[in-house]
Formats: sequence, C-alpha cells, structure tokens
Amino acid sequence: MPICKSLPTRPLGRNGPLVPRLGLGLMGLSGQYGYSASESERLRFLDESYVRRQFFWDTADKYGDSEDMLGKWFATNPEKRKDIFLATKFGIKYTDTAPGFTIDSSPEYCRTSIESSLKRLGLPFVDLYYIHRLDKITPIEKTMEVMLELKNAGKIKHIGLSECSAESLRRAHAIHPITCVQIEYSLFCTEIESPHRRLLETARELGVAIVAYSPLANGLLTGKIHDIESNHADKRRRLPWLREENIEGNVAIVNQINLIAKNKGATLPQLALAWLLAQGDDIFPIPGSSKIERLDSNLQSLDISISKDEELSLRKLAEGISGDRFQNLTGYSFGDTPALDN
Ligand SMILES: NC(=O)c1ccc[n+]([C@@H]2O[C@H](COP(=O)([O-])OP(=O)(O)OC[C@H]3O[C@@H](n4cnc5c(N)ncnc54)[C@H](OP(=O)(O)O)[C@@H]3O)[C@@H](O)[C@H]2O)c1
Repeated sequence: MPICKSLPTRPLGRNGPLVPRLGLGLMGLSGQYGYSASESERLRFLDESYVRRQFFWDTADKYGDSEDMLGKWFATNPEKRKDIFLATKFGIKYTDTAPGFTIDSSPEYCRTSIESSLKRLGLPFVDLYYIHRLDKITPIEKTMEVMLELKNAGKIKHIGLSECSAESLRRAHAIHPITCVQIEYSLFCTEIESPHRRLLETARELGVAIVAYSPLANGLLTGKIHDIESNHADKRRRLPWLREENIEGNVAIVNQINLIAKNKGATLPQLALAWLLAQGDDIFPIPGSSKIERLDSNLQSLDISISKDEELSLRKLAEGISGDRFQNLTGYSFGDTPALDN
C-alpha cells in the first residue's frame, strides 16, 4: 500500500498551476538507462504512481516509446487524465550519424512535433510543453511565437524551457510568461546557482519555477554505482563523473553522504532529494525510475527536513566531486540563440 497518503503541492511558477512538489521522470521507464520492463509492468508502474497521487509526469518525444505507452495508459484510464499534469518536450532528434542527435527548435519543427506527440498520446492537449534544447540558429522569439500559437489553439496549457541560458529565459519570458525551466540540478550539479550562469537568480526574479532533472545525479546519488563494473553498460558510461579516472573518488564521497543519510534514518536518494527540496519551494525535483518500489521511497523524501548546517556540510562534501556535467560536453547546455534581427 502507498505510504505517502497526501502529496504536497505548490504553484509551478508565480501564479502557476498547483503541482506535486515531487514529479516523476519517465525517461528511464522507456529503457533509456538500459532496463526495459514489459509493457504490462510499465503500465502498472503508471497505475501505482497514480494511486500515490504522483500526478506530475515528465516525458519527451525522444524518450523511446514513452509517449506511446502513456497514450495506452490514457486510453484505458480516460477519467484519470484530468488529474495528471503532463509535460512533454520537443527539439532533440536522434540521427544515425555521430553524435547521434541534432537539435531543432525551428517554428516548423515545433508545429509538427506537437502534432506527433498529441497523436502518440491520444490527447487533445498537454499541460506543459518544453523547448527541450535551443538550436543556436532560431531566435528564441521565433520559437516562442509558435509556442504561443499552440497555447492559443488549446494544444498546450503552459510553456517551459529546458537547458536554456538566463538570457534566453529573459527573452522568451518577454514574449509570454514561462512557467518553468527544466535543468539539471542536484547536490552534485549546482551550476544553475553560479554567478556565471545566473539561471536560478533570473528564474526567481521572473517568477519561473525550476524543474530539477537528474536530481539523483543519474543514479550516482543512489549508491547503486560502486565502481566501473557496476557503472551500467548503458549511456551513463559517457558521464564524466563515472569515468575511470573519477569514479573512485566520487564513490568515496557518495559513501560519506550515505553515512549522513543513515544517521538521519534516511536512505541516500531520500537525503539527496530532501537536500534539493530544501533549496526552495520553487524547486520541483523529478527523479526518474522504472521500478514501483522506488515510488514510496522517493516520496518519503518530502518528510525529511534538513537543517542549515546539514545543508552546508552536504554542499561542502559535494564540492569534491570530479568531472564536468555531461550536458556541458554536448555544446547545447544553457543554450543561447541568435538575436532576432540577425
Ligand atoms: N530536460 C532534459 O534535458 C532532461 C535530461 C535528463 C533527464 N530528464 C528528466 O529527468 C528525469 C530524471 O532524470 P534521470 O533519470 O536522468 O536521473 P535521476 O533521476 O537522477 O536518476 C535516475 C536513476 O536513479 C535510480 N533511482 C531512482 N530512484 C531510486 C531509489 N529510490 N533507489 C535507488 N535507485 C533509484 C533509477 O533507477 P531505477 O530505474 O532502477 O529506479 C535511475 O537509474 C528523467 O526521467 C527525465 O524525465 C530531462
């Protein structure tokens, strides 16, 4: 039976919709980290999430068959659609040639992508539509014009950006209020706070919420990755944190954090999520999982409080982590676009 009977909600952005404080990342459920359960198991995972009132679901058109699977779930549970706050994204296309993807945030691709997503989902609208990445070619104002067009047509309810710079956020927000920015944020990845990026500061000034992706550092903050062998044979091999030269020192830090968690009567992922929740009511972590047993465990992080001293000492420990964040290697992190008049 679900342990967490009531899930606290907060407005997503200034005057935004009320959503659960902890969201659910659905990327891993479609095998993006190597594990893929059967369709019936995955549909049951969504059922169990619903039972726990875990209603803030995050997917993207590029997460394998995620939208198709959600489409099946909504088709069998049409009466539950109104309870779910469903976010999806467009802008990343897989290709057969290196590096395996291209970015397209053009108005044309935005228009066709939403139609494809709605078709897969079997829905007339999504609650939140993100520009997943900015393509460095299309001025963000041009993409925003289409996002606004989609909103006016009732196909999307709210607009989000993902992996944008502070300047891109400001420019987009000037066209239409942005509800949230989705960006990597965890105990091991605090770049959004840096004076160089100023993304958190800008979001707060504008009243834009932060949806924190990879809040468990892609699994490193779960304690499941001990050494290079237990570093799964999936796409996480490319993560600088988990490379041979970094993994030993990083796992030693994870072990120290795990001890702090144990002393608090919490698990490591619970403490990592609680640390993120403690950063402010405008931060909405979306831990990803493919396993039902994680649902209760992750939701229990909402009941763990962190003192200022604990928050700071965890921060201090995390400063020792080696390796850049993966997104910084792609060339599309904290994305900017050309000025409109170029
Ligand atoms: N906007 C973007 O560009 C972007 C990029 C990446 C991710 N995202 C979104 O963010 C979500 C989360 O990010 P993420 O999946 O990369 O990383 P994450 O949430 O930091 O970590 C996911 C990993 O943690 C494991 N895990 C979760 N809860 C656990 C628990 N209680 N105990 C032990 N292991 C646990 C999962 O394994 P199990 O499956 O075994 O539970 C999985 O291996 C994604 O699903 C996606 O929706 C967005």
